[in-house]
Amino acid sequence: MAKNFYITTPIYYVNASPHIGSAYTTVAADVLARWNRLLGNRTFFLTGTDEHGAKIEAKAAEAGMEPLEFVDSIADKFKTAWSALDISYDGFIRTTAGNHKAAVARALQFLHDKGDIYLGKYEGLYCRGCEQFKHEKDLVDGRCPDHGTVPETVSEETYLFRMSKYADELLEKIKSDEYRILPVERKHEVVSFIEREGLNDISFSRKNVGWGIPLPWDASHTTYVWADAFLNYLTGLGWSGDPASVKDLEYWPVDIQLMSKDILRVHATIWPCMLLALGVELPKKLFIHGFFQVDGQKMSKSLGNVISPDEMLARYGVDATRYLVISSAVFGQDGDITWARLDEKYSSDLANGLGNLVSRVSNLLEKNGIMTGLQAIDPASSKIAGLFQELKLDEILKTVWAGLRHCDEDLTAKAPWKMTDRAEIESVLLPIAQTILDSAYLLQPFMPVVSDRIIRQFSEKQVEKNDPLFPRLAS
Ligand code: MSP
Repeated sequence: MAKNFYITTPIYYVNASPHIGSAYTTVAADVLARWNRLLGNRTFFLTGTDEHGAKIEAKAAEAGMEPLEFVDSIADKFKTAWSALDISYDGFIRTTAGNHKAAVARALQFLHDKGDIYLGKYEGLYCRGCEQFKHEKDLVDGRCPDHGTVPETVSEETYLFRMSKYADELLEKIKSDEYRILPVERKHEVVSFIEREGLNDISFSRKNVGWGIPLPWDASHTTYVWADAFLNYLTGLGWSGDPASVKDLEYWPVDIQLMSKDILRVHATIWPCMLLALGVELPKKLFIHGFFQVDGQKMSKSLGNVISPDEMLARYGVDATRYLVISSAVFGQDGDITWARLDEKYSSDLANGLGNLVSRVSNLLEKNGIMTGLQAIDPASSKIAGLFQELKLDEILKTVWAGLRHCDEDLTAKAPWKMTDRAEIESVLLPIAQTILDSAYLLQPFMPVVSDRIIRQFSEKQVEKNDPLFPRLAS
């Protein structure tokens, strides 16, 4: 039966252009969105950009630009990158959009009226890279472990969100899986964090950051960038900021929120507590995937080892790039990529794998004038449907490739090119053609263009030779 399916990526900071890390989350979300569409589910896939806060303000100043001009230019780069990667998003939310800002102001006013936001003081450390408040114990040698920078000391009047009030309720919902965090190790990590440290009220406004949404009842403060950012998951559906109107949103609650471990803790604490305070149903599932490193090192501009989607696209083309990023790591665990390994995988799995098999089989079919006119498998009844349910994206590819390899071996062993009896040739080629067609059908979410070419080629009655699907790499 058709269902509604809503999936989100984090909204990315516009302090830098998209790299292969943000591309990984976005391609994975795209695969899941396309799979749901293939099943006939009504699907909404939201991504976007996180454009306020001290970090962006400083970056714009560095570039000698007005913040709005700066964020416009980077948001465009994200849109261009996603279109080059064939990302089929249904909504692209920017936190500087008027409707988003108005909804955030309205929601915060509601929390303020309710007494869940109150005036206080914040004294402590702030890491601009994370846009998060830090404790001494979060630091390594006095520095933020993620950014290597010394946090600034902040002492200012601030409005605090009464997060502590919702800690018990949240813990219960996480433990019972009503609010599901996957893989399960991530759930345990969050549960033990909340049990160990509890949840403290958290600063929700900044007095000295101009680039943000002013609080509606006190314009001398701007909204804390994470409070602003989380609400994108609702405003991206057209929400007005009125908690009572969430029930009118067709796609809420969200089915899957994808992200990596760097932002798990904030997503599993501040965000659901905001929803509890607003009286809004929690997301169904957070899925936390791993972090990509390049050749054993964190990808960073200063190390000069950033792999950009553009470089991969130029070398491998769009479908192969999508295949390579998803197959480079077990979904949910860390991965490490190197150009050498990407090249190797491109050649073995794509150029000499799928591409070569399709070309051998279509040549033989054409040469022998064999009509195919095959029907593809029903995706819902395939064995990969269960793997999709468990979000085992890399395993789906492994399963499909095992089938393709088997075809290759079968072809070589039976050598139909040596046969003369047409019925015998057909009995070898048709089952192989069927597996290729079924594989292409199931690969549509991963490789939309190549799959489409194969489907057209193998479901038409007369199979014709075609240009190679995956050209050999120039060395
Ligand atoms: N703006 C916040 C998110 C707000 S959502 C309400 C933010 N932005 S970010 O640009 O830093 O994006 C972080 C996310 O990008 C990660 O959680 C992950 O999805 C993706 N990745 C960024 N670098 C990555 C790797 N090196 N490897 C894998 N994913 C990575 O945090």
